[in-house]
Amino acid sequence: MSVLIAIASAHNTTTSIGQRIATRLATHIPGPVVVRAIAEIPADGVSPYSAVIVGSAIHMASWLSPARKFITHQRTALSERPVWAFSVGVPGTEEYAAKETEKIEAEVRKSVPALRGHTLFRGRVEREQLPWPVALFFKWFPKGSQFGDFVDWEEVDKWADKVGEEMKKETEETR
Ligand SMILES: Cc1cc2nc3c(=O)[nH]c(=O)nc-3n(C[C@H](O)[C@H](O)[C@H](O)COP(=O)(O)O)c2cc1C
Repeated sequence: MSVLIAIASAHNTTTSIGQRIATRLATHIPGPVVVRAIAEIPADGVSPYSAVIVGSAIHMASWLSPARKFITHQRTALSERPVWAFSVGVPGTEEYAAKETEKIEAEVRKSVPALRGHTLFRGRVEREQLPWPVALFFKWFPKGSQFGDFVDWEEVDKWADKVGEEMKKETEETR
């Protein structure tokens, strides 16, 4: 099984998480796992792969525009292979995290109805990444958020292990 991990990232945290997932997946499945920025994926860029993971940073409670466009434009190719997704944000409360996860997943499912799984990972945000008016209001939106690095690499590994096992099963069933 060959896997494409398609990434939309503004400040690299989503890319680092995608790379970590790739390393972990390689311990479960034999084929290549390739991490690429969505901006660099050509129109027919999904076709060489048998599975896809799409990852995007969250801005204003939605995926970045390249990720939203990717799942719309690649809708047909994505319907022909198993697809998983992850979002990276810094929701300040568990309650808001659940809401944000649910909202984004519903949006993704409009283009990828058979989505195998989606999760939200905590990311990293620093004051200088935000325009000052946004920085001023950041603790209220997304609710309760703080500046800092909240990436939980163990959680990333756990999710990658779960997806890796699902991919492995898929390969065994289609053999
Ligand atoms: C302009 C801006 C808006 C953001 N809006 C949200 C948001 O609505 N919800 C959220 O959970 N995180 C939000 N974040 C936090 C980012 O999703 C988080 O920093 C993530 O790690 C970014 O990943 P990246 O480094 O790959 O760009 C925002 C960050 C920025 C810079």
